[in-house]
Amino acid sequence: MLIAGNWKMFKGPTATREFFASFSPPASVDVVIAPPYVSLAAAVESGGTIYAQNVHWADEGAFTGEISSPMLRELGVAGAIVGHSERRQYFGETDETVAERAEAALAAGLGVIACVGELEEERERGETENVLRRQVSVLPDDERLVVAYEPVWAIGTGKTATPELAQEAHAFVKSILDRPVLYGGSVKPDNAAELLAEPDVDGALVGGASLDPDSFAAICRAASSRS
Ligand code: PGA
Repeated sequence: MLIAGNWKMFKGPTATREFFASFSPPASVDVVIAPPYVSLAAAVESGGTIYAQNVHWADEGAFTGEISSPMLRELGVAGAIVGHSERRQYFGETDETVAERAEAALAAGLGVIACVGELEEERERGETENVLRRQVSVLPDDERLVVAYEPVWAIGTGKTATPELAQEAHAFVKSILDRPVLYGGSVKPDNAAELLAEPDVDGALVGGASLDPDSFAAICRAASSRS
């Protein structure tokens, strides 16, 4: 079981140190935290497994605002999230750029959590499987790649996918790429156990509920009783 916290654009270095001072997850669960870039160094000090929220495909170059894999490695960062739906929706990320980012990070020795998931209107039109096939089939088959299934309509909305719906999507993703699949989208301490009980749900990618050390530890405990 892997439980990953995506802090998005929350917590500078001071708030990051405060979080780690009171965060105590069970040892039996793999835990990843992805803070904003400026808080990576403070997070690495905690000794935990720290991922960036994105990574560029080049090692260096004229790419204003981007960060490369060697830079992350130098800081002691263990991996990166790529293809989060907020990157796809607001920052022009495409299936191709997501794949390039994932390939470069893996080649540099980083772990990767690659996010996929359909929009609400795509689900309503019955296009979920086509969207997932398109997004997943470009990803590299690598032992350090993990997929996160995050239906976009469930992110930050309080609308969680039912465990059955998550299971169905996860099994479909694995039929294309046989890698562990995390569920993401309004995972909270009170719904984590039922989602994580599904056979093809291999962990969770948690946004809002990862910002509080107690609620994130509670989600990690729900994972620990499953594993
Ligand atoms: P949420 O975010 O848990 O706040 O819905 C999940 C994510 O975007 O990874």
